[in-house]
Order: sequence, then C-alpha cells, then structure tokens
Amino acid sequence: MTDPRSPAHDDDVSPFRTSLLEEADGAGSNPTANPTMGELISIRFSRRGLLKGSLAVSAIASTVSPLALLTAEKAKAASGSAFTFTEVEAGVDPKHHVAEGYDADVLLRWGDALFADSPEFDPKNQSAEAQRRQFGYNNDYVGFIPLNGSAEHGLLVVNHEYTNEHLMFPGIVSVAEGKLKVAPADQKRVDIEMAAHGGTIVEIRKVDGKWQVVRDGKLNRRITSTTPMVLSGPVAGHDRVKTKDDTAGTRVIGTLNNCAGGVTPWGTYVMAEENFHGYFLGKLPEGHKEAANYKRYGVPEGAYEWGNFYERFDLSKEPNEPNRFGWIVEVDVNDPNSVPKKRTALGRFKHEGAESIVAKDGRVVFYLGDDERFDYVYKFVTAGRFNPNDRAANMDLLDEGTLHVAKFEADGSLTWMPLVFGQGPLTAANGFESQADVLIETRRASDLLGATKMDRPEDVQPNGVNGKVYVMLTNNTRRKDDQIDAANPRAKNAFGHIIEIAEADGDFAATKGRWEVLLKCGDPSVASVGASFSTDTTKNGWFGMPDNCAVDSAGRLWVATDGNNPKETGRTDGLWAVDVEGEARATSKLFFRVPVGAELCGPLFTPDDRTAFVAVQHPGDGGTDWAPFGRPSYYEDLSTRWPDFRDDMPVRPAVVVITKQDGGKIGA
Ligand code: FEO
Ligand code: CA
Ligand code: CA
Repeated sequence: MTDPRSPAHDDDVSPFRTSLLEEADGAGSNPTANPTMGELISIRFSRRGLLKGSLAVSAIASTVSPLALLTAEKAKAASGSAFTFTEVEAGVDPKHHVAEGYDADVLLRWGDALFADSPEFDPKNQSAEAQRRQFGYNNDYVGFIPLNGSAEHGLLVVNHEYTNEHLMFPGIVSVAEGKLKVAPADQKRVDIEMAAHGGTIVEIRKVDGKWQVVRDGKLNRRITSTTPMVLSGPVAGHDRVKTKDDTAGTRVIGTLNNCAGGVTPWGTYVMAEENFHGYFLGKLPEGHKEAANYKRYGVPEGAYEWGNFYERFDLSKEPNEPNRFGWIVEVDVNDPNSVPKKRTALGRFKHEGAESIVAKDGRVVFYLGDDERFDYVYKFVTAGRFNPNDRAANMDLLDEGTLHVAKFEADGSLTWMPLVFGQGPLTAANGFESQADVLIETRRASDLLGATKMDRPEDVQPNGVNGKVYVMLTNNTRRKDDQIDAANPRAKNAFGHIIEIAEADGDFAATKGRWEVLLKCGDPSVASVGASFSTDTTKNGWFGMPDNCAVDSAGRLWVATDGNNPKETGRTDGLWAVDVEGEARATSKLFFRVPVGAELCGPLFTPDDRTAFVAVQHPGDGGTDWAPFGRPSYYEDLSTRWPDFRDDMPVRPAVVVITKQDGGKIGA
C-alpha cells in the first residue's frame, strides 16, 4: 500500500496538500448529469440567433448581460482605477513584498505565545500542550471584531486550516530520487497536529501606529480539533450523527480543516470546515447505509493518521463520525468558555467561507462555496431578522433559515433554489426523510435540483457598497469541452475566474438575480489562455487561481490567490487589487506577494481601511519548481526560512499586518 501521505506521486508539494488538491482539484465527486452547457450554450446560441450580425457574436462570446451595459454607462461618469498605489513587481523569492510606501510587518507566527503562561516556541521540543497555548499552523481566514467600536483595538480571529508535517517537524523526512518521504506519525505527533488545527482568538491593539498582540487578553482563546462543541439546528440529535461516545447525537469533539470563514453582523466568529474527508481512514462495515453519502464527499481520504490513534476517525469503528464534520461552526468570542456550535442549517459540504450581509428586511444572508470541482455555490438566508440593538437576540439566528443552491442560467439570470425537505425532489422517494437528511447530504440534494456545476467555488463575498456579490472560482482542469457552460466558460480551466452577481432589486435575500463573468484569469498575453483582464493590466497585474477575497469599506475588491508558482505563472501568490467599476473594470494590480511556496489567505481590512491583515499560508512548501533552489523543501532543507530567517528556526506560517507609512488608507 502506498502511504497516502507520501508525496512520491507528485513533486515536492506537501503530502497532505497534494492529496487534498488531487481531490479538490481532482475529478470531483459529482456524478450527476446536471446541464453542463454544451446544452446551455446551444440554448443561448439559438436565443441569440435572433439577433443579427456581429452584435450577436460578440454578445455570446463575452457573455454580455445587462449588468455590463450598466457598467458601460457608469464608465462614462468614472475614469481610471480606484487604486493609486505603485504596483509590486511579480516574481518569486524567499521574502514577502508590499507596494512602495507601505509596511508589511509580521504580527503572529505559528508557535507565538497567546497567553501570559504560554511556553516560548521551541520547534525541536514541540508538544500538544504547548501548541494549545500558541498560535496554530497554516493561518487561513482572518477576521477582526472591534472592541468598544474601535478600529485600532479588537479581536483578531484566525483559522488554522491544516498541518504540513514535512515543514513542521524535524527528523521525519527522508529524500530519495528527489522525492520526500514522511515517516509514519506517532501519537505525540498526531496530538500536536490536532492542537495546531482549529482557530485563534486574540486581542490586538495599535500602539504608536504599530499593531501589537495583547498576550494576556482576557478573551484570547485557542480552538482545536479536541475542543468540545455542540451540534445545533435541524441535524442535532438525528440518528445519523449518533456515535458510541455521543448517543444523543449532539456533542462533537473538535473542528478541522477550517478554511475561510466570517464574522457575523452580531460579532461572532464563523469557521468553515472544508476538506474533512482527509481526516478519516478505515472501511465502513459492509453494506453500511452511509456508503453513497460518503462517496459523494470523498470520505475516507486517509491523508491524516489520526484514526490510528483515535477510533472516531476510523470508519470501521465509528461509521457516523464523518457526518459530524463539514459544517459551519459559530463561536461566541465574548466568552472564552463558550461552547462552539456547529450550525447544521447551513448545510454539510466542503465549506470554504461564510461571509454575510444584512438584507433590506433585516434577514441575514450568508454566501457559501463548496470547494470541489463541479460542486456548487450556496446562500443561507436566516428566518429571523438581525437586531442591531440586542446581541443576545441574534445568537441563534443561524439555526433557522433556508439554504439555497445556485443555478446560473445561460441567459445571465440566476435562480437560488431552496433546499427544503418535501419540496421538489427532496422527498422520501429520493431517500430524504427529513430536513436533517437534506442537510447531511446537501450535495446530493443539490444534484437533484439541477444546480450548476462550478469550477471549485472558494470565497463568495457580498459587497454592501455596490450591492454585488463576487464568486471566486479557483480552477478546474478537468472540465471538458462538452462541459463548458456560460458560468464556467473554459475547458481545462487552469487559472479560474470570478463571477459577479447582482441580486434582484438589490436585495441580498432575493431568490433571483443576474450574473456575469467579471474576469477570466491567467496570462492575458497568451491568447490560448483566454484571460480577460483589461488592457491596462500590466505583466505584474494578472493572476491565476483566485481563492480568498475582501471588499474594503469603499467597496473595492481585493483578491488573494492560491496556486501561482514559478513553473505555471512565474510568480508567487499574492494580493491583487481589482477594479470592478467604470472604465477600469477588470484592471488588476499586484499589491503584496508571498514568499516562495506559500499561498495567500485572509485578506481583511479594518473598518477604517488603514490596516490590511493577510495570512501567509504554507510558506516554503515547494522548491523543486523554483530554479534557484531546485529541490524538495522540508524542515532540514528549506526553500525559505521566512519570516525569521534564522538557521535555528523553521519556516512559519504567519499573519502579516499592512499599513501605509503615512498612516493613510490602504491602496488609496
Ligand atoms: Fe482551503 Fe478551498 O481552500
Ligand atoms: Ca481557500
Ligand atoms: Ca486554498
């Protein structure tokens, strides 16, 4: 048996990351025949065929919708880019780089102390106990919750998505024929891995223009893969989530693979559980009723060895445990002893993020991506209304509401289809006995509704300033020519694209909307790539693989990427500023780039736009593709020792804080 964590099958990418990418960017697990738009394109062609001449051709080719016409009108009134910084030069090296006139300072590194009694980081003598008191590994989502309404004092909430053992631990890697081999895990290592997952809540404050961690902040907290939590909402107590240790089906130990997330309007922290399939191993008992469900989610993937030490991660011992992961987890940050709640009403899938906005009528809308090839875009609309004057009244809003899945029609319209038990095909005839079944098998329910299969939906970001919603679709190289559709217009989509949604009547809770492709990513100088950056975009300004994104308080879009590398794009990942309005629409500029091997997560702006937080994830994870290094990177032989650049320190994922040297707003 090949050790699934061995990277022997692929270059020197992290074993876990490789296996996840194989899955996430793999064939996908969506077996349905939902329209993939050979059909929809032909529908579109026949409709447009009524138009005449070149107008019809260009309209089809660029998927022009009324949104674009609106934008063209705005272009007359507006001019130039909304961003005024001097662009960073794209490239690859061991350091991070930010635009001239800005500082980009490391704020929190893996292993940094979070509490007065935290042990100092000692990479050669790690322990789970120490890690539980320190900043975790592979920071992803970053949120900021102001304290006392201040933009200069608040709680930073940060997800720790996964661990890269070959970069974290000394003495476990061997190299043969240019390939890394990671030694099997013992329990001590597994316990450290589990403690390095989860999230951090930490008080930070700006003092004399520089952000500092308040090490003994009374709300500081680590959440890990062993933190007790509860299941809440329609699935709580259902037979399919009951286990030997939780016969009531209401209590879960821990959260894992927390990718992006969000901060709710009522100031709680939501963590998305993404690639949960990687943590399970073993075989389901023969003929077990969850077999088809697990197949749709790729369970078990066996990337981690936790199941060798903890039965709950072994399907043969605890067959229902995977149904207790893949949720959105809500944390009340005001009480460091609060029990996090897995909010099952928001569905179970490979949750990327959970960005939210208050709709016109006070209901709250959460946009959700399911990051796998050919999976779907969702939104959840609360049943209750947000009460800005009573925090306590909002604390269970996430338990009741309607989850919808997106259907992107060929004519540029969008339908949000409700995932409600008893409606349409979501009935006993298709094996659904309750709303709990619909939510546990969200993907299958969406398959039956005929949702549009997307090119790996990552962050989905509402923009309260211009009323639009931005969908990051990172890539999908497995999409075939006969599977392209208007919303996923490129076969072998290596570089991804961004869709812009305008909800009907500007109402985020609407069940109808319009959409268009904002940007097809990749190098616009290579015609066959089919990228659609504006002609003002420089050779530094284009990017591939949009992943996380943010809008600042002016409504400007910032896109962080995952997957640009020396071989494919000649650049590291980074943060790009993307114009969405006026004649500069689809112009992109490089603002910040990461060290070799990293991807960029976050990003996040403080309410005054004077600080941006970005998360540098898995720095040093890769070296073979970068000619000056030219070999696999691991603990003893790293392509970068960012951010400390000390021989006695490994590379460390870290949150970086960006400020303008003159104290002004970022990017303006
Ligand atoms: Fe964890 Fe889809 O990125
Ligand atoms: Ca992501
Ligand atoms: Ca990613």
